Amino acid sequence: MAYGLLKGKRGIITGALDEKSIAWKIALKAKEEGATFTLSNAPLAMRMGAIKQLAEQCEAEIIPADATSVEDIENLYTKSIDVLGGKIDFVLHSIGMSPNIRKNRPYGDMNYEWYQKSLDISALSFHKMMQTAEKLDALNEWASVVGLSYIAAQRTFAFYTDMADAKAMLESIARGYGYRFGKLKNVRVNTVSQSPTVTTAGSGIGGFDVFYEYAQLMSPLGNATADDCANYVITLFSDLTRMVTMQNLFHDGGFSSVGVSEDLAMKLMQAHQQEQQ
Ligand code: NAI
Repeated sequence: MAYGLLKGKRGIITGALDEKSIAWKIALKAKEEGATFTLSNAPLAMRMGAIKQLAEQCEAEIIPADATSVEDIENLYTKSIDVLGGKIDFVLHSIGMSPNIRKNRPYGDMNYEWYQKSLDISALSFHKMMQTAEKLDALNEWASVVGLSYIAAQRTFAFYTDMADAKAMLESIARGYGYRFGKLKNVRVNTVSQSPTVTTAGSGIGGFDVFYEYAQLMSPLGNATADDCANYVITLFSDLTRMVTMQNLFHDGGFSSVGVSEDLAMKLMQAHQQEQQ
């Protein structure tokens, strides 16, 4: 059911790679809620072509931008303002990539060039998107900026390696820029810390199936899906959350507040009993 929550709002949505992408679901919901927006992804990702299908569905223009390039981001804002006919009301940063994870490098054997690439793509790009918006004065008063994070920013998850550090930085940037943008233009900045979700970036993490199942067993509501995440992010783009800023908001079915769950305890007890038989 649509509520017209984003009627008349103009946005930029990054990171929709294929229909599993969290950004893809957010784009579909934003359209449903009455927003107009542009879609952006790295030029390399464009070649895969799936984003064109989403653009048609959303009647949105695609503007390629490598999120590590300030020049590309400038072009993204300038063109978006032109195409949409005015300044921007919401920005989604849904970008993450770690070459170290892709190449299965353990935390004790990081390639530092790749490490810097992970930080640049997955965290610094969030700062670049906001600093560029400020310099171009591209956002409207009360605009909303959202980045997607993961609880590995607060707690260690084996195999998440340098992405954990990138997420910690991403969340810190949300606080730093949230303060600045709040004072400057009443713009709010938040990160949403999402449950493990089956997507290209998600399933690329070593041991993803175990992360997923563990979180599912721990969370009283179960893992939040990409569609659930889209609904939540839409509320953050809407005027209903105007006073929420500088927060890392857990969207995880309760996972972050549970020590141990009955479901997990039962599973371990069963395994223990089987071992003894
Ligand atoms: P995805 O693989 O669909 O999206 C990641 C996107 O980042 C892709 O569209 C990719 O093309 C884009 N990207 C990579 N390098 C880029 C660059 N240099 N410039 C511009 N874009 C670039 O996967 P997903 O899961 O939808 O990821 C979106 C966000 O959600 C990421 O920040 C991810 O860390 C975060 N997240 C994902 C979770 C999961 O389990 N899937 C859990 C919590 C957070």
